[in-house]
Amino acid sequence: MSTTLITGGKVVNATGTAQADVLIDGERIAAVLAPGSTLLGHDLTASVDTVVNATGKYVIPGGIDAHTHMQMPFGGTEASDTFETGTRAAAWGGTTSIVDFVVQYPDENPLDRYAAWHEKAAGECAIDYGFHQILSDVQDSSLVAMDELVAEGVTSFKLFMAYKGVFLSDDGQILRAFQKGAKNGAMMMMHAENGAVIDVLVNQALDAGNTLPFFHGTSRPWQAEEEATHRAIMLADITGAPLYVVHVSAKQAVQQIAAARDRGMNVFGETCPQYLYLSLEDQLGASSEEWGNFEGAKWVCSTPLRSKHEGHQHYMWQSLRTNDIQMVSTDHCPFCMKGQKDMGIGDFSKIPNGVGSVEHRMDLMYQGVVAEQITLERWVEITSTTPARMFGMYGKKGVIQPGADGDIVVYDPHGHTSIGVNETHHMNMDYSAWEGFEIDGHVDTVLSRGKVIVDGDRYLGAKGDGKYFKRGLSQYLI
Ligand code: URP
Ligand code: ZN
Ligand code: ZN
Ligand code: ZN
Repeated sequence: MSTTLITGGKVVNATGTAQADVLIDGERIAAVLAPGSTLLGHDLTASVDTVVNATGKYVIPGGIDAHTHMQMPFGGTEASDTFETGTRAAAWGGTTSIVDFVVQYPDENPLDRYAAWHEKAAGECAIDYGFHQILSDVQDSSLVAMDELVAEGVTSFKLFMAYKGVFLSDDGQILRAFQKGAKNGAMMMMHAENGAVIDVLVNQALDAGNTLPFFHGTSRPWQAEEEATHRAIMLADITGAPLYVVHVSAKQAVQQIAAARDRGMNVFGETCPQYLYLSLEDQLGASSEEWGNFEGAKWVCSTPLRSKHEGHQHYMWQSLRTNDIQMVSTDHCPFCMKGQKDMGIGDFSKIPNGVGSVEHRMDLMYQGVVAEQITLERWVEITSTTPARMFGMYGKKGVIQPGADGDIVVYDPHGHTSIGVNETHHMNMDYSAWEGFEIDGHVDTVLSRGKVIVDGDRYLGAKGDGKYFKRGLSQYLI
């Protein structure tokens, strides 16, 4: 068992910041100490195996990205990051845990799919991982499987109000799954978009010859997100199940969530960096020399990027301050332009949906601190502490305290990171969705369960370092 001391840094937890040293013994944090402390008269720096000098830097709990899709089969192809490449990229960016989605398509057995995802991930991951389960077209067998999965640490289930024939469950099916969630304590996650409305608008756009990526955005209007969010909340209210709305991009959807919370409901919302920074006009409507007006395919994801003229992005930052939105995940679902996104040239509905950002979430959200949109502590809260609490990992993850796993990031506020350069990121993508983004701040050192896996420019981890995390029920409920 090796010992590590992180000295001289400012330890930032969601609850406060203090100058402190952190002692790690084996995989766990043993003590958080006053700066320069000795232990029973022993100079700690001379007694430990490794000293990490964090002078002038922040020492934060490792990021937790609770929404990723590594090697997800979707849209006739598969997300381009494997568990190996995607979790390594996450580690480079200061994320030390992910919660990925097991996918069950109609007529597949959820438990078989759960076993298949273990097979994909085992021995591959750089950092710890847990699973949510996607349930498509909810059936009696899905409801039975939900109890078994909760016992396996899969304590959250994602349902869809869109993608007919692929993922969609109708309101009755959703209601039954929510009834089960209300009984067994699982968090019910919702992709809240009105799929029937979207299907009509997509076909009308294509019929009118509007085939470019831009029209992916206009055929999924905010009203379809607000309506579905409201409906999901009403279904949750009927059953008493806790509800977590994923990838919220419309301010009106946030308002629905806020109203439900004001009524005392266990309703929560997640947003993603793309909805804070990017827009329908600047990204989905982009053109380039290489791709012409198909450039926007790089940012085709659902819910879509919203218009910059309607105030969604600004509202989302405010919601992060007021806790109307509780946390930020990436919805990392990368596809390459060549051979994947380009399947949709001439028909935007054939562009595989997803954006890749797992490596950049901590840096991107830190820019909110730099711009005084959020506090330093709130940065840690929305990227680590709340994800841990929301999905039953808190205590081990999401906090720097004795007994917690040694998942720690040393973040240099005076460093600089050019995240938008394709050649310098570690995700398995042939482009960057964040081209042109220059970051104040730098991930210097990353420890995963006590092991230094990133040290400056060196990657010291290995595939298989990351282990399955058996999650408990949500620790965030009121
Ligand atoms: O476009 C997206 N979000 N792709 C991933 C699948 C999902 O709906 O989260
Ligand atoms: Zn979704
Ligand atoms: Zn997703
Ligand atoms: Zn640095």
